Amino acid sequence: MELTKEYVEKTKKNGENAILSLISKMDRDSSKITFILDSLGSFPKDFKGDWLFNYTKSTNHKLRMSAIRNIGKLKLNGEFPLLYELFETEPKTEIKREIISSIGRQRNLQSKDFIIQILKDNDPKIVCQAIRALLVFKDNKEIAEKLKKLRRHRNEMVQSIIEKEFYSGLKKQSKPHHTQTYNFLKDTVVHGDVRDVLKAVPEDSIHLTFTSPPYYNARDYSIYSCYQDYLEFLDEVFKEVHRVTKEGRFLLINTSPIIIPRISRQHSSRRYPIPFDLHSYIVNAGWEYLDDIIWLKPETSVKNRVGGFQQHRKPLGYKPNTVTEMIMVYRKKTTKLLDWNIRQYPKEIVEKSKVSNRFETTNVWKIDPVYSKNHTAVFPIKLCKKVIEYYSFEGDLVFDPFGGSGTFGRAAKALNRRFFLTELNDAYFEYMKSEKKPKLLFNELETKFLELQEFKKFANDTN
Ligand SMILES: C[S@@+](CC[C@H](N)C(=O)[O-])C[C@H]1O[C@@H](n2cnc3c(N)ncnc32)[C@H](O)[C@@H]1O
Repeated sequence: MELTKEYVEKTKKNGENAILSLISKMDRDSSKITFILDSLGSFPKDFKGDWLFNYTKSTNHKLRMSAIRNIGKLKLNGEFPLLYELFETEPKTEIKREIISSIGRQRNLQSKDFIIQILKDNDPKIVCQAIRALLVFKDNKEIAEKLKKLRRHRNEMVQSIIEKEFYSGLKKQSKPHHTQTYNFLKDTVVHGDVRDVLKAVPEDSIHLTFTSPPYYNARDYSIYSCYQDYLEFLDEVFKEVHRVTKEGRFLLINTSPIIIPRISRQHSSRRYPIPFDLHSYIVNAGWEYLDDIIWLKPETSVKNRVGGFQQHRKPLGYKPNTVTEMIMVYRKKTTKLLDWNIRQYPKEIVEKSKVSNRFETTNVWKIDPVYSKNHTAVFPIKLCKKVIEYYSFEGDLVFDPFGGSGTFGRAAKALNRRFFLTELNDAYFEYMKSEKKPKLLFNELETKFLELQEFKKFANDTN
């Protein structure tokens, strides 16, 4: 006889004793018995299964696990204390979780006091499993009170489950509808400091933000008195971007570590790991980290730093050529799943927005950099298009707070999205404006180019 899943299923049809007899032929071989238990599937009503408890003390953890999983399928009553005891003595945390799951599957209030105790466990996964078991009795006042206390639990997963289960319905409905936004923001470029501009932008306006902030003091268009000031400036910007972003939507930030060159041969240059230092500010502002995408450039396109080493070959003097930039992907923290966001859109829009062309399958995107006589650090349009296609729907409002030469707006327009850009620098703003001429970027849709005061007036008229 070959021991297969089908064979076990067939045996099960001949009754519980047939299974026991099959197991007895296995010469106590734990892996074979585990295989049988794993192949049992659902149980008929008259299946007693009390013998399964014999295997919960096995030294083979896979067999213990399998036995406990099957015990969860039984209709238990007097056996609860046995499971509580197993939980206390079980050394493996994944089996402890399975014990809670098996108790939870019983949906029996008898075990509530035991599970409530487990909410104090140090393993957050065990706590989550206990919460899951208790949520079945969410309407029970005592249990709801105990669970609500976990809103301030140290673990973020625990916090978010409680937030979703007990508090998310209390939030105001976003206004306007998730797929809609304010007309005065659509296809608009504002000349001003993004921090001032955003003060006039209502909550829940933006579907997607993609931006490349100033590179601290590495380029001459912005100067900050110190690195801390720079980080705090970005913190202020991305807190505001968070406020104006719609529920569960995305923020992608393109930065890279930079080098401020040495002032003379007697001094060393200094490196600033911007994406890594910025990350904790972004997360603290209410963004959830999702992905890090590497923008990979050809080696011939970047500054040669490795030349010196190539000649002297002395350790410690190694300086690799930097061919990457980072694109950090964040989502506005919410208890809602991505599916919720997608469901807000009519089917036709979802269909039209599907990414039909070839798409990036890894987080390394090979894209050539682009140089422009009009700006010292422009986005390649190809990069903007990928971001827009992967992270927004047709008709959405996409935002670049550091608009520069307007590449993101150009890509948005090409992909039937609406854009909102802010730019502080006079020359760059004028450059974008000059593109309004026929055949150039912003001509077809009526793009508005506004000074801050004009924009504020538009915003006031809307409210
Ligand atoms: C790295 S560049 C962005 C280039 C842009 N991605 C493009 O494709 O042209 C950063 C831009 O942010 C602008 N900027 C700096 N501080 C700003 C502020 N406080 N408000 C708005 N724009 C600002 C700079 O003038 C610069 O054009």
